Amino acid sequence: MIRAQRETARKSVNPTSQPSAAHHAGHERPVRKVFDAVRDKQPFEAEIHPSLLTEEMVLEVDAFSLYYGPSQALWEISMGIPKGKVTALIGPSGCGKSTLLRSVNRMNDLIDSVRIVGTMRLNGDSIYAAGVDVIELRKRIGMVFQKPNPFPMSIFENVVYSLRIDGERKKSVLEEVCEASLRSAGLWEEAKDRLHESALRLSGGQQQRLCIARAIAAEPEVLLLDEPCSALDPIATGRIEDLIEELKGSYSILMVTHNMQQASRTSDYTAFMYLGRLVEYGPTEDVFVQPRLAETEDYVTGRFG
Ligand SMILES: Nc1ncnc2c1ncn2[C@@H]1O[C@H](COP(=O)(O)OP(=O)(O)O)[C@@H](O)[C@H]1O
Ligand SMILES: [Mg+2]
Repeated sequence: MIRAQRETARKSVNPTSQPSAAHHAGHERPVRKVFDAVRDKQPFEAEIHPSLLTEEMVLEVDAFSLYYGPSQALWEISMGIPKGKVTALIGPSGCGKSTLLRSVNRMNDLIDSVRIVGTMRLNGDSIYAAGVDVIELRKRIGMVFQKPNPFPMSIFENVVYSLRIDGERKKSVLEEVCEASLRSAGLWEEAKDRLHESALRLSGGQQQRLCIARAIAAEPEVLLLDEPCSALDPIATGRIEDLIEELKGSYSILMVTHNMQQASRTSDYTAFMYLGRLVEYGPTEDVFVQPRLAETEDYVTGRFG
């Protein structure tokens, strides 16, 4: 009786004080659905937030699985990477983030035991169709790794590397692209007076920005970053994060990070992977603040991983 009165009172005070949809869904959350999938050796039906449906995709991954010999590392991943946005790929170590990233530019082709099923498309063009020229494909994709890997040549030659490969000889063109790319990568002021010095003399953070400049100079359709800050100190990390922020809009970026703050600060969308499955994918704020699945919540709140 008393409880009923109280509830009536509460409703009349604020008729909209219903639990939020996400909270409500929380009570009905399937318990550890992903573990069931793992036990049954099944793909996991990812929770994809509807706002992704409104995006134009630069990259489409469709029922993509990957095996290293007998061991399956990716389980029927289906997801689109939005054009002009930053998408963060998060998940515990070994869940397949780098494998997925390397699959985009077919770097896994270099490993004999690898077998794939499913498709990926870059701006509509199949990445794995028979007859795809992998060299041409890779020109359309920029990749930056955990450890900066400048080539042992000058800063200038690093930046214009892709143009040289394409046979560009005009000094004015090379200089223009070099300056524009270094500016975009936030490295111009520090590098402009030492363009012809060895890139290996730059600090780690500068080297990583140089690698981003080198990738940008090739005008990639998508830029893949695999934990680009994990070898850097906090200040260098901050600069890379600012840079990613600035590149947003002009570039489509897919970035692996194990740093939750970094994902929440820099990305528009976040995809959570676990044990080779895509678990939940949506706007970063939703994934962090009101994830739909218990597995996601446990991970983003640091309960495991
Ligand atoms: N070259 C390889 N050969 C065999 N197994 C691999 C290879 N590279 C990665 N793996 C395995 O695939 C799984 C996913 O690895 P990875 O993509 O590196 O994960 P993450 O980047 O999320 O840490 C792991 O179990 C890892 O041991
Ligand atoms: Mg990795």
